[in-house]
Amino acid sequence: MPEDHFGENVAARYDDSADEMFDAVVIDRTVAFLADVAAGGSALELGIGTGRIALPLQSAGVSVRGIDLSPAMVKRLKAKPGGDQIDVTVGDFATAIAPGAYRLAYLVYNTIMNLTTQAEQVACFRNVARHLEPGGQFVIEVGVPDLQRLPRGEVYRPFMVNPPNLGFDEYDVVNQGLISHHFAFEDGKVRTISHPFRYVWPSELDLMAQLADLTLMARWGDWDRRPFTSDSEKHVSIWQKQVVD
Ligand SMILES: C[S@@+](CC[C@H](N)C(=O)[O-])C[C@H]1O[C@@H](n2cnc3c(N)ncnc32)[C@H](O)[C@@H]1O
Repeated sequence: MPEDHFGENVAARYDDSADEMFDAVVIDRTVAFLADVAAGGSALELGIGTGRIALPLQSAGVSVRGIDLSPAMVKRLKAKPGGDQIDVTVGDFATAIAPGAYRLAYLVYNTIMNLTTQAEQVACFRNVARHLEPGGQFVIEVGVPDLQRLPRGEVYRPFMVNPPNLGFDEYDVVNQGLISHHFAFEDGKVRTISHPFRYVWPSELDLMAQLADLTLMARWGDWDRRPFTSDSEKHVSIWQKQVVD
């Protein structure tokens, strides 16, 4: 079982983040896109967390279920209005089984990178394929690895310089590893959190999908379906499980 990096100390502050991912406009666009793909069917969120997306998606009429490793994150989801309507399997989304078959499975906010080995990411695609109904679709939102900005020999890239909050990514290019170091200065004290990730290329995700018998249907640059280009900082990709005749 992977290590839980979203314990009480992280979960307690998760929803207070100033990150644009918590902006109501961003959440609305994400929910509209996912509801469209769900097309009246049910949805499974891998790494459901505190319900940033699952709760408004459920309010939009989609029946949502989740998998998450962190009891502390799930406790916060359950405490929110509507949270008791969403069933969550506590476990590793690369291997845990949630009851049912789903029209949509989704993994947003770079969470595929929380699986820190290629084998775990491949297992995750296979696990998703197991959960999808025929013709069901898997949506991933994940950043494009930022290596174009990393000069040869460098290891650190600032991703947040917003005093008193600072963040630096530490790259391990040989192993496709990334540790995000967060520093928050408060009352003369510094709070630090470091999260390990494995960054992953769009083409590599397509190969993982192929291994799980899923077919790439679309790749967009964002939730508004803008084209994915060489300048895109992230992508929203959809793979489909084969429709049975
Ligand atoms: C960045 S948060 C995203 C939460 C939510 N999806 C959102 O968009 O706000 C990542 C979530 O994935 C969960 N997670 C990370 N690795 C996991 C794993 N291997 N299995 C299940 N959940 C995992 C964490 O506990 C956390 O709740």
